[in-house]
Amino acid sequence: MKTLVTGGAGFIGSHLADALLARGDEVTVLDNFSTGKHQNLESALAAGADLIEGDILDRELVEKTLQSVRPQTVFHLAAQGEVQRSIEEPAFDATVNVVGTVNLIEASKEIGLDRFVFASTGGAIYGEGSRIDLPASESGETAPLCQYGLSKRAGEMYLELYRRMYMFNSVALRFANVYGPRQCPKGEAGAVAIFGELLMAGRNPTVFGDGTQTRDFVYIDDLIDAILTASRTDVEGPINLGSGQETSILELLTSLREAGLSLNGDGPPAGTTFEPEFDRGRPGEVKRIAIDPARAARELGWTPTTALEEGLPLTLRAIGRQSGATV
Ligand SMILES: NC(=O)c1ccc[n+]([C@@H]2O[C@H](COP(=O)([O-])OP(=O)(O)OC[C@H]3O[C@@H](n4cnc5c(N)ncnc54)[C@H](O)[C@@H]3O)[C@@H](O)[C@H]2O)c1
Repeated sequence: MKTLVTGGAGFIGSHLADALLARGDEVTVLDNFSTGKHQNLESALAAGADLIEGDILDRELVEKTLQSVRPQTVFHLAAQGEVQRSIEEPAFDATVNVVGTVNLIEASKEIGLDRFVFASTGGAIYGEGSRIDLPASESGETAPLCQYGLSKRAGEMYLELYRRMYMFNSVALRFANVYGPRQCPKGEAGAVAIFGELLMAGRNPTVFGDGTQTRDFVYIDDLIDAILTASRTDVEGPINLGSGQETSILELLTSLREAGLSLNGDGPPAGTTFEPEFDRGRPGEVKRIAIDPARAARELGWTPTTALEEGLPLTLRAIGRQSGATV
């Protein structure tokens, strides 16, 4: 099977590329390295992946890539993924996430592809969990509170339109808060990566708001299993990929502290207190969210199996190895 992964140098895309290669696919990665890293792709390139360094906004390049690679499946993960940036630069967010996605869909339609898998969001698409029943279901309303959630919804709606107009075969996967090795702690999205790096450096975390805000965390390996399964089915429309569980930021910090202790000598430096400092909450961020994975269980046979107690130590170990390697 020939597959194209946009955003394949990023956190999730690089794990996906590794998994596709492991199942025997011929993989091409398209990435502009705006947030992705060459280091993330080392294993995929060693296993034979092709890399095209370029932008999904370059329509000619996107068309040429689809025409020459002729993938059966496109996994579209390249995106502007930061909530705060989407609020500060809404036109940029819309350009990358809407126009970029349309470029990919159009070029994919032209080659008569089998399946288009779109990385959508479960965390930012439903809106405020204090006003809706949690865990949020795909059949419920979407009322994003930030431009990023809206631009992802627009991508989903283009796919719905192309299905009606051209019988274009696609699925929109609404990821919860994904965490695991390779996640970049420099952005603002990855709470586990940000807090995990601070913990491993012996520093205190800054929490925006009072820490009672909740998120739905899903471990990268579980998510990749779901993406692979969804790509092999004909399931349509949006599918939540999350745990269905709310975890508050304060609970996450406690779990991280415990995970750090469980690493013994490989954990944070002795004397690390990891006491949170509090700052003002940020606009656009929901107070409560968890997404219902029932449809994924029913139609993909998928439920996440990695609890935070298992996934956090794995993530901290990877952060430790990473910082050890760069010292
Ligand atoms: N990480 C999460 O918790 C999460 C949650 C919901 C949805 N998502 C979605 O999953 C996808 C992957 O997220 P991630 O966490 O791996 O982020 P990431 O930033 O690590 O990966 C995104 C990749 O896309 C590339 N990219 C960005 N703009 C591009 C452009 N114009 N042209 C070509 N490449 C471009 C980046 O260089 C990067 O490699 C994104 O679509 C994101 O919105 C992620």
